[in-house]
Amino acid sequence: MCGIIGYVGSRAVVQILLEGLGKLEYRGYDSAGLAVNSAGKIKVFKAEGKLQNLKQVMANYTLSDTTAGIGHIRWATHGAPNKINAHPHTCNCGKLALVHNGIVENYKELREELTAEGCVFKTETDTETVAHLIAQEYGRCQSLPKAVRAAAKRLKGAYALCVMHQDEPNLLVGTRKNAPLIVALGENENYLASDCPAIIEYTKRVIYLDDDEFAVLTPDSVLITDADGKQIFKKEEILPWEPVAINKMGYKHFMLKEIHEQPDVIRNALSGKLHDMNSPVILDEVKLTADEIRNLKRIEIIACGTSLHAAMIAKYAIEAFTNIPVDVECSSEYIYRKTVTDAKTLVIGISQSGETSDTITAIRQAKAVGSHVLIITNRPDSIMAREAHSLIPVNAGIEVSVAATKSFNAQLIALYLFALFIAETKKSFDEGYIAKLKHELLQLPPKVEMILSHKENIMKCAKTFASFRNFIYIARGINYATALEGALKLKEISYINATGYPAGELKHGPIAMLDETMPVLAVLMPGVVYDKVLSNAEEAKARNARLIALTSSEDAALENLFEYILKVPPVDEYLSPVIASVPLQLLAYYIAEFLGKDVDQPRNLAKSVTVE
Ligand code: F6R
Repeated sequence: MCGIIGYVGSRAVVQILLEGLGKLEYRGYDSAGLAVNSAGKIKVFKAEGKLQNLKQVMANYTLSDTTAGIGHIRWATHGAPNKINAHPHTCNCGKLALVHNGIVENYKELREELTAEGCVFKTETDTETVAHLIAQEYGRCQSLPKAVRAAAKRLKGAYALCVMHQDEPNLLVGTRKNAPLIVALGENENYLASDCPAIIEYTKRVIYLDDDEFAVLTPDSVLITDADGKQIFKKEEILPWEPVAINKMGYKHFMLKEIHEQPDVIRNALSGKLHDMNSPVILDEVKLTADEIRNLKRIEIIACGTSLHAAMIAKYAIEAFTNIPVDVECSSEYIYRKTVTDAKTLVIGISQSGETSDTITAIRQAKAVGSHVLIITNRPDSIMAREAHSLIPVNAGIEVSVAATKSFNAQLIALYLFALFIAETKKSFDEGYIAKLKHELLQLPPKVEMILSHKENIMKCAKTFASFRNFIYIARGINYATALEGALKLKEISYINATGYPAGELKHGPIAMLDETMPVLAVLMPGVVYDKVLSNAEEAKARNARLIALTSSEDAALENLFEYILKVPPVDEYLSPVIASVPLQLLAYYIAEFLGKDVDQPRNLAKSVTVE
């Protein structure tokens, strides 16, 4: 959360910062700001709200003689999302400016100490303490790199920092701890950024900073040091991707475009790994030997949000195909309890961004006790990917909309392939059934295409129910997590209170809420729990709830029970979450769109959750 960028060189600094921030806007959009060293002075510009507001502010200025600059896009943690609290933050003399991603946990003590020493605070942020702290150190040593290193020793928490000083106009200093920061290398210019999209248009040469490393950038040099100023020789890497034109391709929102990309995303995720129903799954990415696989005693899957729902679905498939017990836990719970993870446990971390702070902490804890860590991510260049023992990139392409859609189904495909790969290695599941599942996996893209080309009923349903303030989604078995995911999509983009329940749990409490104001959507995919979910839906109907079914069943009797039937093509029950998730994404999308919500950038959210 929060995106930062820094540039030192002779090009139009403001333009580079604004364009870079545009590529980082997925990390937050509460406010935006930048600082430049122009004509020998630090000048700071800020605007509340989206980057567009800052662009309007900057349109009024022509800045001459700019040598370096820093920019920030904010997801507020400490202090209201207003202009005052927007970054960059400065010291009292205004000569030092910095941008920060993360949370300084000991900021209160530091603020008290600095106030007692005469610093005057202008904002409510944790970040401003860092500006004063570095300025104080600068007063002692008159060197920005030294001052940043000295101040960093006093910080607790997470930070990626980019700092500039008026008296060292051609220099930027960056450092990080538990928050991402890359150095990008150009010709007579250099960059710092939270993420590669911000710089890919200018250069593909990057250095990934590790925790407690410091980068000192001038236009023609980059020096990386440790906390004591000792030089570290780091490998330069070449980004494996081309600058992509990130545009909506005629769709009204990125979310709708990304939903429509899913047939190709699924093809991509299968490509090179599953050729046909009679060939084994190829998963060279899993760096476990056949013996290690056969000896696996337990699997733990750790993730957050939508990725957690993919994990919950995977548990059903992995346990059924491999007989290996699977525990699924959300990362933020995993990291603050005594777990029984050990060297015999395979730990799978799932993350679209590969940056989610809680999941990073969780996988580091698992590594520390000797577990093999497999990461499934859409960002093979992320922190998680670089720390993994095994890595399955899902190759869904950049996901811009904050609500995850295509990455969810790409993760599911990777997880099904993993489950089948283990089953084939262990010979733990019926071979005929494995072949059938492989065949059906390859059939998923045209089935998703079919759903996408018949959206009228989903749109009609969205219009009927858009005015409701509450929703219940029910399902059982492997689709319980599909219901949770459908409800999450609806609440995050439409702000409607949608809750997913295992259908059998309704009568243990939630049924008390049912009446005509509480629509119930039943994920009713044919399989072992079909009849059970159907009776749970009948129970809801008896309490006057208005019912929607999501099903591939041809049973004509359903029409008497359900007000809307969202039809999907038939599919094996194990794979049905892929097919069932698509209409749920579309339903959430059309409801939010009908309500006029900011679909791609819903309030209070950010695409990358880099704070605890
Ligand atoms: C929901 C959504 C979030 C993320 C969650 C984890 O649409 O996008 O719930 O799934 O923040 O993010 P990653 O997968 O990047 O670890």
